[in-house]
Amino acid sequence: MDARLANIIRSIQFNSPLRRYFFPKYAYYFNPPQLGFLCACIEETRNVPGSIAEVGCFMGATTVYLNKYMDARGIEKPYRSVDTFNGFVADDIKYEVDNRGKTKDLFTGFRGIKKSWYDTIMQDNGITRVTSTQADVNKFDLRTLGPLSFVLFDVDLYRPMKKGLPELYEVLSPGGIMVLDDCDATSIQWDGADQAYKEFMQERGLEVEIVHGKLGVIRKKGL
Ligand SMILES: C[S@@+](CC[C@H](N)C(=O)[O-])C[C@H]1O[C@@H](n2cnc3c(N)ncnc32)[C@H](O)[C@@H]1O
Repeated sequence: MDARLANIIRSIQFNSPLRRYFFPKYAYYFNPPQLGFLCACIEETRNVPGSIAEVGCFMGATTVYLNKYMDARGIEKPYRSVDTFNGFVADDIKYEVDNRGKTKDLFTGFRGIKKSWYDTIMQDNGITRVTSTQADVNKFDLRTLGPLSFVLFDVDLYRPMKKGLPELYEVLSPGGIMVLDDCDATSIQWDGADQAYKEFMQERGLEVEIVHGKLGVIRKKGL
């Protein structure tokens, strides 16, 4: 395309109501220090045996970021991701409403995507180590993902976090690290993740470690 035509197209895009889709926009659910921390965990666990898992991956923004980090640092291990690819499930929302004083309109996000879109986004980014699974965490045995060296657990609500935590911890390799998003007791929407995390740590006699405002950390002792 010649430069003049490219400039005309760019100018049309910039002046259109769809501008935000054509020009840079921060695409992550984590701020830069939080993303840096996730990368540091992958680095720290690079020699720990097992795969990396992201449970709750949505459209893959963080998946792409972390895989590009792995590429840049020469870290080669399978990356497993799990999501409904259709947002929150009805029983998880019902639990928040019936038991945690929430209103269901808080939980309408993350719908309307497809697993095939996520897989294509990986291909478009030249990423081949990611295998995705479409599943409801409540019905899927997360232990089948193991062994795991690093886990990002990010499904937001109390019920699936509570169910998934012991399963993921069981298959976390010694020396492995698990990070749970949304461990923020002040969040009206996502404080269920914080509750599930704190209950788990108390039950296991582990020390609560929340960094960068909302990342709950679980470190499995090495051998
Ligand atoms: C905050 S988003 C994940 C964001 C992603 N980690 C990122 O950084 O781009 C939460 C995801 O959890 C998924 N999710 C919620 N409940 C789930 C469940 N019961 N089973 C599987 N996935 C679930 C939603 O579909 C949504 O995509």
